[in-house]
Amino acid sequence: NTLYDHLQTLSPQFYQEYSTGDVITRATDDIEQVRRYIGPAIMYTTRSVTIVGAAVAAMLVISPQLTLYALLPMPLLAIGMFFMSRMVHWRSEKLQEQYSDLTTRVQEALSGIRVLKAYTREESEQRAVDTESEGYLWRNLNLALVDSAWRPFFLVLVGLSTIIVVWFGGRLAVAGTVTIGNIAEYVLYVNIMTWPVASLGYVISMVQRGAASMGRLGKILDTEPRIADTDRTDHDVERVRGDLAFEHVSFRYNDNGPRVLDDVNFELEAGQTLGIVGRTGSGKSTLVEMIPRLLDPTEGRVMIDDHDAREIPLGVLREATGYVAQDVFLFSDTVANNIKFGAPDASDEAVEEAAREADLLENVRGFAEGFDSFVGERGITLSGGQKQRTALARALLRRPQILILDDSLSAVDTQTERRILRHLRSHYGERTIVVVSHRISAVQEADQILVLEEGSVVERGTHDELVVQDGLYAALHEEQMLEEEIEALG
Ligand SMILES: Nc1ncnc2c1ncn2[C@@H]1O[C@H](COP(=O)(O)OP(=O)(O)O)[C@@H](O)[C@H]1O
Ligand SMILES: [Mg+2]
Repeated sequence: NTLYDHLQTLSPQFYQEYSTGDVITRATDDIEQVRRYIGPAIMYTTRSVTIVGAAVAAMLVISPQLTLYALLPMPLLAIGMFFMSRMVHWRSEKLQEQYSDLTTRVQEALSGIRVLKAYTREESEQRAVDTESEGYLWRNLNLALVDSAWRPFFLVLVGLSTIIVVWFGGRLAVAGTVTIGNIAEYVLYVNIMTWPVASLGYVISMVQRGAASMGRLGKILDTEPRIADTDRTDHDVERVRGDLAFEHVSFRYNDNGPRVLDDVNFELEAGQTLGIVGRTGSGKSTLVEMIPRLLDPTEGRVMIDDHDAREIPLGVLREATGYVAQDVFLFSDTVANNIKFGAPDASDEAVEEAAREADLLENVRGFAEGFDSFVGERGITLSGGQKQRTALARALLRRPQILILDDSLSAVDTQTERRILRHLRSHYGERTIVVVSHRISAVQEADQILVLEEGSVVERGTHDELVVQDGLYAALHEEQMLEEEIEALG
């Protein structure tokens, strides 16, 4: 639980460094490992120490010399067990990896079967699966080999102890130091001791594994959330009006990486619309991600109303911003629950209204089960445009003061996109809208348009102003008008 809570607070940057699979493995596996190993480790150790201690005491009373001989193979036993269990563990881990490779491969092949067939890759894919399967088989045998080797090894060492006891005991008995009865006692003690000693070796290897898992968990728990409320946070701020300004904002993803944004400035009043255009990689997403503070500027500041965004409580800020990302993420759940994701208590009417605003209502009414239709693998497959409009409805439902659309209608046709945006502007009154798009038509009616190139604002103004400037914007406009005409002809 501590781990999960902590994971929720970490910034997206953390998730770029560790893959999701990695985090999940750590979260579930490592906790499990720690739990599995610590309990038994304590139990085994206590038991082993008690039994071995009692046996050794009893043996010492009879003959210190013979005790020494009898105990000689014991460390070997513990060490042997230690390495053996490490080997088994290592091999079973490799086996797990191989297994997950194999299942991933098969899963991908099945879900991508259309692509596979379209590119006639069935045969080569079959070969790849064969190779993986063989690897899995081989590793399984390997593990079985080690697993079956330890039992004879164990018996040999026990036998060795007994032989030593009888051999040296016999000589001592001839010398008259011990009796034959003592020797029999010793053989018994040695036999009692072997298991506890062996388990000590096992315990040490378990503790080692537990410690490794613990170490990995510690590394995650020690990662400080990079974006969080600090002592700069002004807790008196309870709502956001929607004025937005960037002041000399620059950004780098890494300390010595390139400037992805370079001295970006703009000012927007609550209720206005900002359009951002630019080629792929020009920094549009990076720019808008700073508004809900998914990223913080490296230099400069983002102002919301009269506050540096970093002074607004994160909860208030995120509540006030509706961010629709470039790639849509929908859960395997009903359409309604996907829309209600950010506002679980919303009424059916509100959900319907949000769907209407996102131009999704007609579509949903067309589904057999309407809003209760299941999305994803077990249900209906939504088109790219429908997914995007679902994500938009999700953001609209929360009535955010600042709405950010990061090329989030790219899969929707131009006409529909324009209709949605126009409706949002007229019904959104005093709400601020930031529209990122690769289409001029989407930003055409914005109060202010920024043209980004390699992280810098190279042109700015309204549509009409930019068209006459004859720069990048005008060129893009020309290009897209032509495309539209061609489309209309086709
Ligand atoms: N997490 C990241 N780490 C390092 N570089 C990144 C990261 N995300 C984006 N970039 C780089 O930043 C630049 C701007 O990316 P982005 O903001 O996504 O542009 P756009 O949205 O305009 O396509 C690109 O060169 C991209 O490669
Ligand atoms: Mg982008």
